[in-house]
Amino acid sequence: MSKLISLLFVVCLVVVPSFAILRDTANWTQVKKAASAEVVDFRIALTQRNVDKLEEALLDVSTPFSKNYGNHWSIDEILDLVAPEPKVARSVMNYLKNNGCFNIVNQRDHIKAAATVEAIEKMFSVKMFTYQSNISGSQIVRSSGFYTIPKELSGKVDLVAGISELPFRKAGPKAHARKATPVDTSVDPGIVIPEVLYNLYNIPVGFNNNAQTSICLAEFADDQSFNKNDLKVFSTKTATELINVDKIVGPYSPQQPDLESTLDVQYGGAVAQNASVWFWTVAGWMYEFSTDLFAANPAPYIVSMSWGWTESQQCESGIGNCNGETSQEYVTRVNTEFMKIGLRGISLLAASGDQGAPGDGNPSCSNNKMPISPIFPGGSPWVTSVGATMLSAPSDADMEGSSSGSTAPICQKQKCATSTSEVVCSYPQALITSGGGFSDYSPMPSYQQTAVNAYLNSGVKLPTGKFNATNRGFPDVSALGHNYWIVASGAGQIVDGTSCSSPVFGGIVALLNSIRLNNGKATLGFLNPFLYAAQAADSTTFTDITSGNNLCTESCCAKFGFQATSGWDAASGLGTPQFKSLANYVESLN
Ligand SMILES: *[C@@H]1O[C@H](CO)[C@@H](O)[C@H](O)[C@H]1NC(C)=O
Ligand SMILES: *[C@@H]1O[C@H](CO)[C@@H](O)[C@H](O)[C@H]1NC(C)=O
Ligand SMILES: *[C@@H]1O[C@H](CO)[C@@H](O)[C@H](O)[C@H]1NC(C)=O
Ligand SMILES: *[C@@H]1O[C@H](CO)[C@@H](O)[C@H](O)[C@H]1NC(C)=O
Repeated sequence: MSKLISLLFVVCLVVVPSFAILRDTANWTQVKKAASAEVVDFRIALTQRNVDKLEEALLDVSTPFSKNYGNHWSIDEILDLVAPEPKVARSVMNYLKNNGCFNIVNQRDHIKAAATVEAIEKMFSVKMFTYQSNISGSQIVRSSGFYTIPKELSGKVDLVAGISELPFRKAGPKAHARKATPVDTSVDPGIVIPEVLYNLYNIPVGFNNNAQTSICLAEFADDQSFNKNDLKVFSTKTATELINVDKIVGPYSPQQPDLESTLDVQYGGAVAQNASVWFWTVAGWMYEFSTDLFAANPAPYIVSMSWGWTESQQCESGIGNCNGETSQEYVTRVNTEFMKIGLRGISLLAASGDQGAPGDGNPSCSNNKMPISPIFPGGSPWVTSVGATMLSAPSDADMEGSSSGSTAPICQKQKCATSTSEVVCSYPQALITSGGGFSDYSPMPSYQQTAVNAYLNSGVKLPTGKFNATNRGFPDVSALGHNYWIVASGAGQIVDGTSCSSPVFGGIVALLNSIRLNNGKATLGFLNPFLYAAQAADSTTFTDITSGNNLCTESCCAKFGFQATSGWDAASGLGTPQFKSLANYVESLN
């Protein structure tokens, strides 16, 4: 065990720290006026129609035993419903053309274009500068103040991406050299490898994967790198199949693998067994990604996003116009894009955050101003929000053997986990606290009303007055998020985070999709109505997590947060998956 203590423990952040209020002052430095001929790419989100009908259609195809269950729509059918009349797109394109824009692409409900700095400055009433990140050294051209939508476009446009917002700083995994605060060995549950997950969640090894099943790991900021050699070492040391990353979208630089991408690929890939693995790096934030994913053909069936930031700070962190457009508008627009993606039959999963109920908005555990802050996209009603659990300490019986009885080489060297008892993942035993709570913006979706209202009426202690009980509660589900063993740059490392949980749950969904595809049926698509219905129909589909809470963050504990209890709760959702029962339920669906 002393070996374990000496290891470097690392938190896999799910956060994309916001440049927020900071813009030019924090880690971006304005270096010079941009040259007038320099080219800027941007995209204009056109105001959509029929968003209420989109929601109805999504729920119709995603709710088990609905007549239209699994009847996903094509890209064109979805755009026919939501895109504005063609003349709106035409008039916006004409405006752009007349103002010197080029590479204009009509995506029906948004327009992509490029223009010189000179043209941008005129159209959007801004001054463009070159900014340099003092973290990565990369340079980018952005406006010094927020853009104004030209009057010719007013009423037609929700937002413009690529003009004013500075991209996120790299989250950068936070390396906690645990020397100062060694792990308490009495609560050290051992390391988690894929085999531990297979055993705990009843996942058959060698599961008959349909050749079409796929999972995609989406990365943001500068996280562009896992390393294929690491996958080989991981496969050997954990005795799992070599992970097959066969689709890479966006910039990829394998030289310096980062922990987030490495973790996502190793665990999403290992749990999905033999599935086709996509690795997608995104320039920009949720608007850019969701519009590109929606338009992608072919597209992966499952996307896991171990990224997020405070819901009320999306404006600052993701989109330019903080004058007239709020974070709520950004969130609302991206939620519509998520619904479109679900209606295509693609499952989106997001980590529920690593800073408990206080969230990235309150990492230092103040009990005063904004004590609780929900996350986005982890708090979106249109993603499956995945929280983290941790194993309680092994029993004495477990401790007697050298290990788990595993033949995996790594388990001959280190203690692999054997406990089967999960609690909410929380500081200080873990380096993170699983995020959970209620959105400030999105009303409670119908698929969770019974489960969430039962929690609210259960008599459990609630942070009353600090959250909006009529809104979307999260997470939906959980999976282990503590003590994962990964291989990065050839070396074993141990990581914590809801960043572990989201790809693992996504990997399980890839196997469930296999069942659907093997039976000639549609993919599971937007998962939440299915997950809540499965748990209501058969309580063995999830292991109920009834112990723990999310009052802490990554470094302290606060007064306000949510308790785990029986049934759904805002700390662990429905609980952790039991594959065999979920598979049986999937077999029963039309
Ligand atoms: C800027 O980046 C450094 C790391 O290089 C970080 O410690 C610091 O908190 C950042 N500043 C702000 C204001 O976010
Ligand atoms: C980046 O800027 C911040 C804020 O000025 C500073 O604290 C930090 O040390 C800088 N980091 C680097 C790597 O220069
Ligand atoms: C994965 O594919 C390989 C080669 O096709 C096969 O030998 C192996 O059994 C498969 N593994 C699983 C877990 O499906
Ligand atoms: C709760 O959120 C809803 C939006 O879903 C909003 O209409 C309502 O005003 C909020 N309530 C409070 C007390 O903030």
